Amino acid sequence: MTTPYLPNTLVTHGQPLTPRDAETLSSEAADRVVKVLALRENSAATPLRALPGLARELGLKSLHLKDEGFRLGLGSFKALGGAYALMILVQEEARRRHGRTVAVEDLLSDEVRAVAKGMTFACATDGNHGRSVAQGAQLMGARAVIFVHAGVSEGRIGAIAQFGAEIVRVAGNYDDSVAEAARVSAEHDWTVLSDTSWPGYEHIPGLVGQGYTAMVREILNDLEEPPTHVFLQAGVGGFAAAVAGHLAMVLGEKRPHVTVVDPARAACLYESAKRGKPVKVDESQSTIMAMLECYEPSLVAFRILERVADGFMTVDEDIAIEVMRRLANPSAGDPAVVAGESGGAGLAGLLTVVRDPALAAEIGIGPEARVLVINTEGATDPALYEQIVGRSAQAVLKEYVA
Ligand SMILES: Cc1ncc(COP(=O)(O)O)c(C=O)c1O
Repeated sequence: MTTPYLPNTLVTHGQPLTPRDAETLSSEAADRVVKVLALRENSAATPLRALPGLARELGLKSLHLKDEGFRLGLGSFKALGGAYALMILVQEEARRRHGRTVAVEDLLSDEVRAVAKGMTFACATDGNHGRSVAQGAQLMGARAVIFVHAGVSEGRIGAIAQFGAEIVRVAGNYDDSVAEAARVSAEHDWTVLSDTSWPGYEHIPGLVGQGYTAMVREILNDLEEPPTHVFLQAGVGGFAAAVAGHLAMVLGEKRPHVTVVDPARAACLYESAKRGKPVKVDESQSTIMAMLECYEPSLVAFRILERVADGFMTVDEDIAIEVMRRLANPSAGDPAVVAGESGGAGLAGLLTVVRDPALAAEIGIGPEARVLVINTEGATDPALYEQIVGRSAQAVLKEYVA
């Protein structure tokens, strides 16, 4: 069977980002994100792990993994986006009310928090985005109402509720919960803080993606040389678009080759790339990569990815599981990494390509490649992690430290 890999041949490929997207993902925007991030607890950079053992096995020059399992005490990169967007939205509201600009440094002042107190933020989530919005709302003193679909586990719901957010359960899938959050919010005049965008709704998801740029900045600070290849997993595509878009903004011609990786069972970016426009795919069996189980891409994300992604591919369930186990039981010389079910999907994309030598050669995956992947989540559902890997996340990390 040939690997489902689609080189980006769209007419927009290689074109610059639209002025608005370029501004959202610019270096100046990342400066602001870093400043806002510094206001939060546990805001240290997450580790960038070198995996020389696995690089050798895969025949690469180097392989680095950014480990977002350690992000802000929340266990996923999503901690950067929702909370950041919420803080900026409060800043914008304070400016409207007081008629003057509020400095980032004053975001946690009593005056600004008094504005937040009157605001309600709502979103739909698979788990991680809602956790971020809930944490941001708690920090600012705002109200958060989080819509969860039938597939969201109790463990994940509990992790959101611990920040004082109200939970609304919705029958159906992720897309149904997005629609319900938008409907109820319109009724109550709440602010929808979504990580996906649709026609006429771009500013807020843009801010969410902007929040992710802090992660890219940390990676580039830590690497001696920028990567030649990046594999980025996708749900609605906001993560991949922010990372690839910001890399293109700061590296220009030297930007790496970017592959967007979808689960085969929820391949909305792959199918959209095939058709040359954002399309909704049919719901099939659910995927273990639960955070990536989205059937319709974010409009803004697709607009960015059609320009800066170089290929779109899908990965199977088995390889996502294999990656979680491999990272917990690493190759000689490598650290152990705790990757949640969706966290290792980018690496699953790389492994899939390596197993297809013709494809690997075609896209330059070989002895000269310096590859970057991002473990987007740790064991955000600890019980499921233990079931899949055979040991708890704590046990895996303890072995590594020992
Ligand atoms: C752990 C993890 N990885 C990747 C993604 C994909 O992000 P996006 O939906 O922006 O494509 C998500 C989204 O929730 C996630 O939680």
